[in-house]
Amino acid sequence: MDLFAGLGGFHVALDELEGRGVFAAEREPILKALYKVNFGIDAWGDLNDLSSDEIIACHVPDHHVLTAGFPCQPFSKAGDQLGFKDTNQGNLFFKVHDILRVKRPRFFILENVPNILKHDGGRTKTKIIRMLQKLGYSVDVEHFSPHEFGIPQVRDRAYFVGSIDGLDHFEWPAKHKAPTEIHWVLRHDVPSSRPIPEQTMRAIDMWGDFLRRAPTSLKLPSFPIWSMEFGATYPYEDETPSGVWARRPVWGLRQMGFKGSFGQSLEGTIDEQITRIPSHANRGGDFDFPRWKRTFIRQNREFYQANRSWIDPWLAQWSPQNFYSSFQKMEWNAQGEDRDIDNFVLQMRASGLRVKRPTTSPSLIAFTQTQVPILGANLAGERRYMTPAECAELQCLGEIQLPASDLDAYKALGNAVNARVVKAIAERLLHGLIRPLSSTISDFEPLRATA
Ligand SMILES: C[S@@+](CC[C@H](N)C(=O)[O-])C[C@H]1O[C@@H](n2cnc3c(N)ncnc32)[C@H](O)[C@@H]1O
Repeated sequence: MDLFAGLGGFHVALDELEGRGVFAAEREPILKALYKVNFGIDAWGDLNDLSSDEIIACHVPDHHVLTAGFPCQPFSKAGDQLGFKDTNQGNLFFKVHDILRVKRPRFFILENVPNILKHDGGRTKTKIIRMLQKLGYSVDVEHFSPHEFGIPQVRDRAYFVGSIDGLDHFEWPAKHKAPTEIHWVLRHDVPSSRPIPEQTMRAIDMWGDFLRRAPTSLKLPSFPIWSMEFGATYPYEDETPSGVWARRPVWGLRQMGFKGSFGQSLEGTIDEQITRIPSHANRGGDFDFPRWKRTFIRQNREFYQANRSWIDPWLAQWSPQNFYSSFQKMEWNAQGEDRDIDNFVLQMRASGLRVKRPTTSPSLIAFTQTQVPILGANLAGERRYMTPAECAELQCLGEIQLPASDLDAYKALGNAVNARVVKAIAERLLHGLIRPLSSTISDFEPLRATA
């Protein structure tokens, strides 16, 4: 029984334990149609249409196990955190609760973002557990990430499990610390993947050259490198550019001796001055920068002053001011590694080009085209985007068919539950339903390249 079924991560997991799906619900037409293709089940559409106990009793078949990755935006750190008060999505937990109340399956597994455990000072978690206990279930909750199961993706998620017969038999699977490597999921027969845009390629080359030029004896910053601060001297500590523009509406920063991003002159109109202050510092009404921003600005300016001998020639060669502002920033997350940019997993984010060790992929989210992780040439033969099929491997979804458009596929994969994590939990939970643990258990065995 797969509620909020998406691509069917729960279905894949329980299939492997020889379960048989009897009902699924998914509102998105593309995913609903794919569910039929992949699993042969005509999924129900909107769960809100199961609007009374009678309708639930009539349409939802009896089942032993209910699974649901109910929508997580209301509880996610990335959202506005309205939680249960989100009338669109937050109340969908209550729909799960209604179905449990009416149908009383023996077990359930619910999945959500880990922030649900901290949301509203822990009250959301307590409320969920109490409500499920009141239905007669023993309930437990834990969080896991696929990398703790030998899969090269860090993606922490909370799992609530429940059993009507108590949980004395149940133990959570162990978390493993063994390192993982992204190349386990890389395919070598990749059909022509979407080309990397020229400006993105140049930005990677530019930061690759930055890494090459940095003396090997120099520890690279662990703070984000903001090249636009190289040469800047505009005020940011006691006053901000916006503060000056409010105080001196005609002259602004003119004739004050300050420099803008990349050391540009500020001797122009206010409109010109705005374009020469980095976007992280030019927002109107921003009269006081938070401490983290002041720290990053200071650290970048000090770093530049101490390293001008090799940074100035780099600036002269690449003119980073001509790149999009997010391309002017880099996050080096590979301290201590060789500095060949093609050894790494790269991701273009609003916060800059992130350079990551090839041990894990960035957590899958609904990537936009630009955010899809890029594999360095030494990992994939040539620089290229990770494909949806490789991302499906990160979610352990086997050979299921994915949405035809890459954007729809990345979105669905970013929402999916990791089937291997679910399987590890389910085989310990579903006591009496599946063969005893010893004969089915898929104990820890790291994922290896499949192609
Ligand atoms: C977090 S995802 C769960 C993904 C799923 N566990 C998987 O492995 O792919 C939530 C899913 O619920 C669907 N959904 C949201 N609201 C719904 C509703 N009212 N009725 C049915 N499905 C809904 C979304 O389209 C989305 O696919």
